[in-house]
Amino acid sequence: MSRRRWIRLSALVGVLALVLTSCGEDHPLSTFDTAGENAESINGLFIPVLVIAAIVLIAVFGAVGYFAVRFRSSKDEDGNYDDELPAQTHGNFRLEIVWTILPAILLAVIAVFTLSLIFELNDVEAAPDAKIQWVDVVGQQWWWEYQIHLDDDGIPDIVTANELVIPIGQEVPLMVTSRDVIHSFWIPRLNGKRDAVPGRSTEWKLQADKPGRFAGQCTEFCGLSHAFMRMWTVAVTPDEFDAWAENQMQGVEPLAEGDERYAGEQIFLAQCSGCHVIVGVTDTNGDGETDDWDIYDGANEITTALTSGAAPNLTHFATRTTFAGSIYDLYMDRAEDIPYLDVASAGELNRKDLIAWVSNAPERKPADYLDGRGMPPFTNLSSDDINALITYLAGLD
Ligand code: CUA
Repeated sequence: MSRRRWIRLSALVGVLALVLTSCGEDHPLSTFDTAGENAESINGLFIPVLVIAAIVLIAVFGAVGYFAVRFRSSKDEDGNYDDELPAQTHGNFRLEIVWTILPAILLAVIAVFTLSLIFELNDVEAAPDAKIQWVDVVGQQWWWEYQIHLDDDGIPDIVTANELVIPIGQEVPLMVTSRDVIHSFWIPRLNGKRDAVPGRSTEWKLQADKPGRFAGQCTEFCGLSHAFMRMWTVAVTPDEFDAWAENQMQGVEPLAEGDERYAGEQIFLAQCSGCHVIVGVTDTNGDGETDDWDIYDGANEITTALTSGAAPNLTHFATRTTFAGSIYDLYMDRAEDIPYLDVASAGELNRKDLIAWVSNAPERKPADYLDGRGMPPFTNLSSDDINALITYLAGLD
């Protein structure tokens, strides 16, 4: 095959491959498959703008193509190129007015709709009967923390990581911020992106019309493991939300010696409690009393008390369906066939990845752990220790 044909064939295969990728059934980050009114509004603006842009594109490229063919140079009978230029025009007042005013009108119309949607999306307010008053969404290299406020007292009632649980049919106000560099919070099926900027809290909102798990991905390059900074928003019915919240607000009881998970708890306290909080078990500020949710009253206090600034709160670790910045499923069956609230009792634990993660996290997810960014390796722990630790974590439901 000639080189030229090779290039043509490769180009064709490349384009076909690109087209085929859109035929997959699983599009967790699709902005078209909307599941809430904010995402719908964005889509409702995007589609008409895309159509207008496509019409302009076809008109312009069509005209360029037409003129290129129509006025191409041609050979005469003797085989010489006809170099004569067609009649030239310079300046056409009427035409110039038209091609200035038409695009201006077009852009002005698009701007009116775009600006009004931007204002609408930035109009964030919890409904009077809202179950969640607001959520502090905190980005950190390379995971997300959610401090959920069910009332107005300023102290979070629930602190969790990577999976945000919300009730359907209600607007959930977010205050998006970061502890280190700029991240961007994005649940495409529920709303657009919002940057998480250190030292600043920016309002945003989520709203889901139907129950489901909606995927997200950090969309601001934030260092080594940016691609591994994923998250989910899980929308449940209001009753399910109440049941979930009631369980999440509870602390954990310290275990008695002789309990089958006791050894794991002791390893956790010795190895992990410098960074991870378990309400009712850890003593972050070292005052001799176990942690309560009010240690999150003022995120700064907790970040100075913890070695790493802050790590995911593990109080109800086993109720989540993913771990490690949502890059691994916590349960083997991907927890898709089990109702969200039942995973901790019905899901089969993904031990293999958990063991790998706890023993040597940086091997799975690059991190500057010496700089307090990301989880360090625990190669000092024996496999019995790791197993005991995982048995303990698996019981945090
Ligand atoms: Cu966080 Cu990219």
